[in-house]
Amino acid sequence: MENSVEAIVGDESRRIYEFPVARNSVFLAHAGVAALPRCVADAIVTYTRQSSEHHQEFGTVLGRIEDSRATAAKLIGSSAGEISLLGPTSLGLSLVAEGLTWNAGDEVICYRDDYPANVYPWMGLERHGVKIRFVEVDEPGRITTESVAREITPRTKLVALASCHFLTGWRIDIDAIGALCRERDVLFCLDAIQTLGAFPTTVGNVDFLSADSHKWLLGPLSAGIFFARSEHANRLRPALVGAWNAYSPDFVAQDAVTFPSTGRRYEPGVLNIGPIFGMRAAMEMLLEVGIDNVARRILDLRAHLAERLIALGFELAGPPIGHANSSSITTVSHATRDLAADFAMLEKNGVVASLRRDRQGRSYLRFSPHFYNTHQELDRVVGLLDA
Ligand SMILES: Cc1ncc(COP(=O)(O)O)c(C=O)c1O
Repeated sequence: MENSVEAIVGDESRRIYEFPVARNSVFLAHAGVAALPRCVADAIVTYTRQSSEHHQEFGTVLGRIEDSRATAAKLIGSSAGEISLLGPTSLGLSLVAEGLTWNAGDEVICYRDDYPANVYPWMGLERHGVKIRFVEVDEPGRITTESVAREITPRTKLVALASCHFLTGWRIDIDAIGALCRERDVLFCLDAIQTLGAFPTTVGNVDFLSADSHKWLLGPLSAGIFFARSEHANRLRPALVGAWNAYSPDFVAQDAVTFPSTGRRYEPGVLNIGPIFGMRAAMEMLLEVGIDNVARRILDLRAHLAERLIALGFELAGPPIGHANSSSITTVSHATRDLAADFAMLEKNGVVASLRRDRQGRSYLRFSPHFYNTHQELDRVVGLLDA
């Protein structure tokens, strides 16, 4: 059957079949933890069942794992050899923080109000005398190329940013910031979990990328990808070491520890095979639907929802409707409403959203529709909030 936006959202029985969560709820929390599409659940269940009938590395399993690298590579525009099959996101980010060599006085640029998984690994470098420079923003989450340029000094070694802010939904210009970093001889590390599967997220100008699959990629928890540009293989020491990434013929420890040159060098032990197969099924489905088509669809859904929430008196956080750096994330606050009560009411009525707070303690309702959500579902949410 054809996988396209129109084929799935244009046929309610097909939509519910492919995305069983849509039968039970209006699921609008893809910036949190996604529900698994049927094809993903099936891939995991099939592997799990076969693993009880044979064993966990039976037959062609290891070969199929290698194919999964190629699928991931297609998604981010890298080569298969540059992919490590590692989640969660924080693991890949920490591999970069812990695997590069740092000198006192080196500087790292990151964003203080980013998701903590992309702040703490860099703060941890202060023990080496590394200085953390937080990018200054005019609006929460809005990181521009200029705001990054302002922080770069001759001591800057790495810029570490998320492709999209998890609360406000501002997307960064990955290519422009990457080009700036390259021009200034600075490494660029991308936390891609909030765009991978939803918007084009490619590594032409990126040195390191990490993303778990449990959000926009529609994969299971703790299956993810880590990309390190092949030319950095010698520069990024594997911070985690085991029998699978250090050369161990016949599982005999050698006198010297040597690593392969491919992405396997960052995978210390056996892999999380079932979830990786689930992630691969999700990637294949999204590639078939087309990432540009997904992006177009979810921007349209955001505009539809945001317009109606504003009409109800909510204040839209993040990009104005139609802004080029919008994502699907539709986050609102309200001067007088009790958003915790709204969240609970929605939950009671089968709507899954997210309730978040910022550093100042202000509450927000966050809706994050994916391509299989419908305008009718969004109208139902608006109707509940208008009651
Ligand atoms: C920007 C960002 N990075 C990372 C994560 C998740 O990190 P991990 O996969 O390590 O749990 C989230 C989850 O909300 C996120 O928004």
